Amino acid sequence: MSYDVQAIRQQFPILNQKIHGRPLVYLDNAATAQKPIAVIDAISDYYLNYNANVHRGVHTLSQRATDAMEAVREDVRAHINAAETAEIIFTRGITDSINTIAFGMGALVKKGQNIVITAVEHHSNIVPWQMLCQRTGAELRHLPMNEHGEVVLDGIEEIIDEHTAMVAFNHISNALGTINPVDAILERAQKVGAWTLVDGAQSGPHAKVDVRAWNVDFFTLSSHKMYGPTGLGVLYGKRERLEALPPYQGGGEMIATVTLEESTYAGLPHKFEAGTPHIEGIIGFGAALKYINEVGIEAIAAHEKELLEYATQECSEIEGFRVIGDAKNKASVLSFVVDGTHPYDLGVLLDQQGVAVRTGQHCTQPIMDAFCIDGTARASFAMYNTKEEIDLFKAALEKAVTMLR
Ligand code: ALA
Repeated sequence: MSYDVQAIRQQFPILNQKIHGRPLVYLDNAATAQKPIAVIDAISDYYLNYNANVHRGVHTLSQRATDAMEAVREDVRAHINAAETAEIIFTRGITDSINTIAFGMGALVKKGQNIVITAVEHHSNIVPWQMLCQRTGAELRHLPMNEHGEVVLDGIEEIIDEHTAMVAFNHISNALGTINPVDAILERAQKVGAWTLVDGAQSGPHAKVDVRAWNVDFFTLSSHKMYGPTGLGVLYGKRERLEALPPYQGGGEMIATVTLEESTYAGLPHKFEAGTPHIEGIIGFGAALKYINEVGIEAIAAHEKELLEYATQECSEIEGFRVIGDAKNKASVLSFVVDGTHPYDLGVLLDQQGVAVRTGQHCTQPIMDAFCIDGTARASFAMYNTKEEIDLFKAALEKAVTMLR
């Protein structure tokens, strides 16, 4: 069946509106994606029909809520091909997921060891490791980036060595769209026995991941970038790794026994899920995953690739337009500057014409510093975007550039 983008758009009522009198062209999907009716309905259904706390009550509503939430844990397991549902932890987001690992590794990492990231990380995969290194005396290293925004593997053997405790990197860069050479980095990390984390913040909505095929220790997903609710992330970890980590937060639900003197902790996954979870978020995320799978992630990726190529080609006709990050392997992100204009001004003038893009550093200041720029304007594409929208975006950008010059 051919890709029916208009049928998909029908499922996202928010897209059908005007901003400043112009049709909304929503190209800020790497920041957060819009939500299909199925997600909104799943959340309403929970609140209308079975709102209750989970894992706590013997009453019917609590059991229904618990069953619905735990069914999503199984859906996530199947989606990434984890070995067991206990390896799927629900967190407040990827920032929370990565901090959970970095905090826990504080008990295991020692001075003399090192942590390796890459030069194309989001701040959420930089700062927690800096904090870990400050606490433990370990060294933070990175794989460098070239002028295309690609991670450079020359010298990987010196950077990832027998003292490397963790190699943590993103699958796809949020600021540039670069798809990182996951297999090559994992191969080196696994050869020296380092732990590994792949951050799937940007790949979740665009690529199918099999954590067992990668044999990766940890993997993260963000619900709101995958058409689900905000405030929810996934932390996948291999059982033996999660069992080796102390919990990040203490509280209800994560314990086995509590006395006023001491506590013992629950088994997986609850050991890492202190407090009432984001129940409606998890249920909504389940609906989002189902919707992604109905449309088909390969079909979505192929559609977005076409949009990215079209947008890159069309916008390159604008005088002074420069793509920031022109890696050979890219997904769904067009980050750019236009000579003689500031990205912020472009963003404001695009918004005046109905076009939503993100401007600034995209939580990736080291990338911007490496390109010697303050920031970029970024158009990022999702399953519901169209070539007609890219034409509107290009026309609006041309107008903005004319006004600013
Ligand atoms: N990390 C998100 C982005 O890239 C917020 O926009």
